[in-house]
Amino acid sequence: MTATGPGATEVPRGYVEHLFDIRGRVAVVTGGGSGLGAAIAVGFGQAGARVVVADINDDGAASTVEQVESVGGDARALHLDVVDRAAVEAAADQICGELGSVDVLVNSAGSAFRCPAEEFPEDRFDYILSLNLKGTYLCCQAFGRKMLARGKGSIINMASIGAFVAYPLASAYLASKGGVLQVTRALALEWRDRGVRVNGIGPTLMESPLTRSAAQRSSVTADFITARMLRPRLGLPRELIGAAIFLASDASELVTGHTIMCDDGYLTA
Ligand SMILES: NC(=O)c1ccc[n+]([C@@H]2O[C@H](COP(=O)([O-])OP(=O)(O)OC[C@H]3O[C@@H](n4cnc5c(N)ncnc54)[C@H](O)[C@@H]3O)[C@@H](O)[C@H]2O)c1
Repeated sequence: MTATGPGATEVPRGYVEHLFDIRGRVAVVTGGGSGLGAAIAVGFGQAGARVVVADINDDGAASTVEQVESVGGDARALHLDVVDRAAVEAAADQICGELGSVDVLVNSAGSAFRCPAEEFPEDRFDYILSLNLKGTYLCCQAFGRKMLARGKGSIINMASIGAFVAYPLASAYLASKGGVLQVTRALALEWRDRGVRVNGIGPTLMESPLTRSAAQRSSVTADFITARMLRPRLGLPRELIGAAIFLASDASELVTGHTIMCDDGYLTA
């Protein structure tokens, strides 16, 4: 048990001033070229972090970088396939070599595929599990090692309400997000005493290109979810930025292994 000296229970003058301050921190956002990852990357950029937008989609990543730079922020794009272990490890080396360290990792690269379970194609199941779960895991591993070596870092994994509840035509997605939830807990437990925190964000159904393209194929899943919402509206990508900054910053020093639900109360019903 760490000894607590005199003054340990006091709130030092000016303590709150830097609580949510992520200025100068290096934040890698996978899937930062679109949707939720793009919004978080832009939010981090506005907050003064040095942002690395890591995506398999170079045009998307470039557009996010442009948005950060247009408000005077610091961002760069990095081509990355999160399911390619060697590429992920090389990216972690490259970023640490160029920027000195990685303080924050957001795992937002992910996808969905809608299909009845009895017909779900095996290759689509493998793709969703590989991208959403293994891709998250590989990035946690490679960037986590760098953070462990420094004794400091915060990882934020994109989960979903689908980590807790089911909805139709999404069996692979639900399995992957349940896995992300448990990986988040597992790594948090292993890494707490070495300075690395691992948390998740669990959004409700959000306004994003992923939601739009899935709904074009079938509205069954979205209709099921929206019919159970406490108020009938999708979340907006920017509405996740507050939770992401909280988890990235020292304000969440005692928070690890949790998934913060940004679900507009969805799980209460
Ligand atoms: N949209 C929602 O309603 C919603 C709700 C809850 C959780 N989520 C989760 O949030 C995350 C982001 O979703 P989104 O709506 O922003 O999706 P999106 O499709 O808009 O963005 C996903 C990004 O991931 C990138 N990507 C795909 N495969 C990749 C790979 N192999 N390597 C690197 N990048 C890759 C894509 O190029 C894209 O830029 C996903 O994990 C998703 O499951 C989304």
